[in-house]
Amino acid sequence: MNLLYPLVVLTIASPRVSVQYLMPQPSPATPPAATNITAILEMGGEFTFFIRLLKTTLIGNQLNSQINSNSTQGLTVFAPNDHSFLSLPLRTLNSVSDQQRIQLILFHVLPILITLPQLQVASNPLRTQAGASDAGQFALNVSTFGYQVSLVTGVVTATISSTIFLNSKVAIYLVYKVLLPMALFSSSAPAAIPPEPEKNMSTPASGVPTSSRSSNTIDVSAGITPNAFLIRTASYILVSLSLVTIALSY
Ligand SMILES: *[C@@H]1O[C@H](CO)[C@@H](O)[C@H](O)[C@H]1NC(C)=O
Ligand SMILES: *[C@@H]1O[C@H](CO)[C@@H](O)[C@H](O)[C@H]1NC(C)=O
Repeated sequence: MNLLYPLVVLTIASPRVSVQYLMPQPSPATPPAATNITAILEMGGEFTFFIRLLKTTLIGNQLNSQINSNSTQGLTVFAPNDHSFLSLPLRTLNSVSDQQRIQLILFHVLPILITLPQLQVASNPLRTQAGASDAGQFALNVSTFGYQVSLVTGVVTATISSTIFLNSKVAIYLVYKVLLPMALFSSSAPAAIPPEPEKNMSTPASGVPTSSRSSNTIDVSAGITPNAFLIRTASYILVSLSLVTIALSY
């Protein structure tokens, strides 16, 4: 609903503008204005991260020239909002290379315009601009339940929340999750929780006969050395700070 607000304002404002400007112009055969995906997303107001990625990778420019060329079949964009990016595990995006970041963006783009009804009956997997869906690595599948349309990557499932924009060239849909392709993030979902050793250390007296390797681990961590070291480090820092303060005050 919030998203539509700027579009609604434009719709209300445009009749007055068009009346004024059409009157003196006899020829209505003006070329249609170029569609600018970045500008459309900026109106939405909640796509800061997605827009930044489109700009830094230069994919935004590429997509705009793609949809405004004559031979286009249009484009479909699944736009994750800022909350989608903020709820990603830390360093998810930093863990990929520049090239992979481009693939991640292109995974959110289909090389044809697909309306929501068409999407509901589309055959899987969808062909994204990231390519290689046959190998299963960049497979994006549609799953429909009633009127609810979801996108399934194998890592995440994102429900299409609403249509942000639709014209003859581009359809932009709001999703509440970043579409993480298997090719780049297949291990991130299960492997993101590796604190097993800590659990072992915190419960050393479980009575379970453990291997000598794990008991060695417990012995090392149970020493008082870390505490002593921490205290010494803290004192050192405090002393240093006092010295700096004294030095600055003169
Ligand atoms: C598209 O919109 C963005 C953001 O408003 C702007 O920076 C860019 O120059 C525009 N591109 C074109 C081709 O007009
Ligand atoms: C698209 O077609 C129009 C005429 O139909 C032409 O004037 C224009 O140069 C073409 N644009 C591109 C990018 O090919």
